[in-house]
Amino acid sequence: MSLLMRIESALEHALLNGCGPACPPRLVAAVRHAVFPGGARIRPQLCLAVAMACGDEDPELANAAAVAIELLHCASLVHDDLPCFDDADVRRGQPTVHKAWGERLAVLGGDALIVMAFDVIGRAGGVNPRRMAKVLAAVAAGVGMPSGIVAGQAWECEPRADLRDYQRAKTGALFTAATMCGALSCGAPAEPWRAFGDSLGEAYQVADDIRDVAGDPAWLGKPVGQDAEHHRPSRAAELGLDGAVRYFEELVRRAQAAVPDCEGAGMLRHLVRQESLRLVPQELVPDIVRAVA
Ligand code: IPE
Ligand code: IPE
Ligand code: MG
Ligand code: MG
Repeated sequence: MSLLMRIESALEHALLNGCGPACPPRLVAAVRHAVFPGGARIRPQLCLAVAMACGDEDPELANAAAVAIELLHCASLVHDDLPCFDDADVRRGQPTVHKAWGERLAVLGGDALIVMAFDVIGRAGGVNPRRMAKVLAAVAAGVGMPSGIVAGQAWECEPRADLRDYQRAKTGALFTAATMCGALSCGAPAEPWRAFGDSLGEAYQVADDIRDVAGDPAWLGKPVGQDAEHHRPSRAAELGLDGAVRYFEELVRRAQAAVPDCEGAGMLRHLVRQESLRLVPQELVPDIVRAVA
């Protein structure tokens, strides 16, 4: 089974489990709208790719970590699109959850996904409860206080924020959780995977900043120009488009160099190069195009 099929099937299973017949139908619809159809599913792919590189010997726990991370990501997008944050009408090429189902169900649907994510991990601890507890803590660090997604979004409410701290918390922390949970689900030490997640997460956010300036809204399925409109700090604003692209290339190199020695290291480096090409318009990064070819 391909990684993506494994992820879609595990997500479908989690949602069926969480949305029984007793559940208010519009809440079910709002939650499904947030998760399907998906976007890049990059975080769960990363988690499972690391698990495979470490032997994938507890696939149930690896799947639970990957699903939880994607559900939390989806929840963060639902809340991020609300009028009190970025006030966005379109996400993944369709109306945002609050546009389709109203603000109250968008708030509740995001909340429900957050709770579901931790429930999914809790249910997967039967074989290795100690590993499960470590996965739970790593995922919580990626989304909560003091420096997960919630903290990242909260930096937007401060009069001043350091760009690196802001982007690390908003985006990087969940990438770091993804690489570390891939290892933890196999009983492998997580620390060696931190730097890989950190640099990939930063690269991913810098790519998002670049696309916000140079992307095509039809291809992206979301509007561009949002960072400038909302006066959000971004690498493209700080370094200019060319500077941001060079920085992105540097981060992709750093991410490849940070892959720890393991059987799947070559596969992971290839995955990073290949995925990085999908993140920014290819004409901006001819060196990476050549490396993948
Ligand atoms: C969007 O994340 C928010 C960022 C942190 C850049 P993705 O670009 O991974 O969103 P989807 O899941 O593919 O829609
Ligand atoms: C969203 O960040 C990342 C979250 C943690 C929710 P952005 O607001 O920069 O991402 P897009 O452009 O809406 O996807
Ligand atoms: Mg935002
Ligand atoms: Mg946004």
